Parts: sequence; structure tokens; C-alpha cells
Amino acid sequence: MFQKISFLLRFFQYKFSARHARGHGIHSPFLYNFIRNVLNEQGRWYAQNSISKLYKQLLKSTETLTVTDFGAGSKIMKSPERKISDIAYFSAVRPKYSELLFRMVKYFEPKTILELGTSLGIGTLSFALSNSKSMVYTIEGCPETSNFASKNFKKLNVKNIEQFTGEFSEQLPIVFQKFDNLDFAYIDGNHRGAATLNYFYECLKKAHEKSIFVFDDIHWSVDMQQAWNQINRHPQVTLSLDLFQIGIVFFNKELSKQHFIVKY
Ligand SMILES: C[S@@+](CC[C@H](N)C(=O)[O-])C[C@H]1O[C@@H](n2cnc3c(N)ncnc32)[C@H](O)[C@@H]1O
Repeated sequence: MFQKISFLLRFFQYKFSARHARGHGIHSPFLYNFIRNVLNEQGRWYAQNSISKLYKQLLKSTETLTVTDFGAGSKIMKSPERKISDIAYFSAVRPKYSELLFRMVKYFEPKTILELGTSLGIGTLSFALSNSKSMVYTIEGCPETSNFASKNFKKLNVKNIEQFTGEFSEQLPIVFQKFDNLDFAYIDGNHRGAATLNYFYECLKKAHEKSIFVFDDIHWSVDMQQAWNQINRHPQVTLSLDLFQIGIVFFNKELSKQHFIVKY
């Protein structure tokens, strides 16, 4: 009960302070263009229809998986025996955000993308289908989930995904042997503050000026919100955007250090 009230308070705080939906009042051309051409972009690409079709199929699926939970756990799904339809509804990235991730990859063209938390593979597919020249490395702790995601990748005939199965901290050093520069990171699993900060510092070792990191569920708990505040205040982070569901950080030194709560 306390958790629910505290979450609602954070949500209303965001609602009252979020601005710049259309880029008004933004002086930075970089951010203005990002808001206008990525956040607000209405166009759809053909590949997005395949992801959307798959997502709808998953929402109707009666199959079940026995899930090994490595993360902070679900607030709703408590049993290890979970329906695919429930995982798709409660854990998978929502279309509004998977479409945004797709557009971000189209716009910034990152070569190396790392995802922590594959789940059914909706986010992974959004990255991989957005730019066939990007290589997507994705980590999932639960073997059954990882295996299920791999079938989805085959279904959509996607070749630019490399999957890793195991605990994030155990898999990260293995994944990091694959590339020198991390262009884009999507941290979407184990929503605990300390763990999230740890993934941030690990990813930072491979980051460069043009890297972009996206954190999911930044207001999921007080603990996560505190971690997010530490991340956006980190001296290497120049621009940070709070969209409530996700937080985005940029490291570009040409940008002056600013934090925005953006209506999305
Ligand atoms: C919110 S879901 C990811 C959603 C996915 N990114 C998408 O686009 O639909 C989080 C996933 O991270 C996995 N996970 C959580 N903590 C983990 C950990 N410490 N190590 C490995 N996997 C973990 C869970 O099994 C779960 O499948």
C-alpha cells in the first residue's frame, strides 16, 4: 500500500513538472532536434509492424514458461510458472517505448547496442530491425525466457543479435570482450538501485562522448529514483532526460550540463 502511494506521488510530481513536449523553451539545438525528430516523430517504418504483430500474438499466447527470476522480481507476477501473455503485458517494453527506442536507433545510428534484460525480445527486435548495421548484444538471466526470445528472433529472421544467457554481472565481462566502444545501452532488468548504479559504472568503462544510455523504470521505487538521481548528476553525464518511464543520458561534452523533465 505504502509503495503504491509513494509511486503515485512520484507520478504526479512528474506530471506537474514535465514540460517541453514540443521542444518549446529549449535552447539547445541538439535537444530541440531530438524532441522534434525523435520523441515526437509520428512516422512508422515497415519493420515496426512486424514487431507490433509479434507483440499482439504474445499478448494472446496461452503458452507458459518456468521463469528463473534474477532481478528485483515483479510487483504482480509472483509464481515462477508464468503465461507468455502475462510476461508480454507486465514485463515487456510497451509499444510507446519500443517505438521510441526504434526511432532513437534510426536517428543516432549506434553501431554497438547492449541490452540488459532481453525478456521476450521486443526491445531487442526494435533495436535490431531499426538498423541492420547495428549489432545488438542482449543479456537475459532466465534460460527459458532467453530460449523463447531466440525463437522470436528467428521468426522475424533477424541476424544482428547476439544473445547471452546468465546473470548480468557475470555476463557483462564476456560481452565486453566483443567490442571496445559502447554506443547505446538499455538497462532494463534488476530494478534495484545499487545494481542499476553498478551496471551504469560498468557500462561507463566502454562509453564515449557520443554514447547514449537509457534506463527503464527510473521511478519504480524510491531506491531506483535515488540511483537515477546519482546517474544524472554524474560528472560525465552532460544532458539527462526524465520521461518518467525511462531516463536517457548523454555524454556529449559540447552540451552544457542540464537535466530536463520532459513530457512524453
Ligand atoms: C523488464 S524485463 C526486460 C524487458 C525487455 N527489455 C523488453 O524490451 O521487453 C527484465 C528482464 O531482465 C531479466 N533479469 C532481471 N535481473 C537480471 C539479472 N540480474 N541478470 C540477468 N537477467 C536479469 C529478467 O529475467 C527479465 O526477463
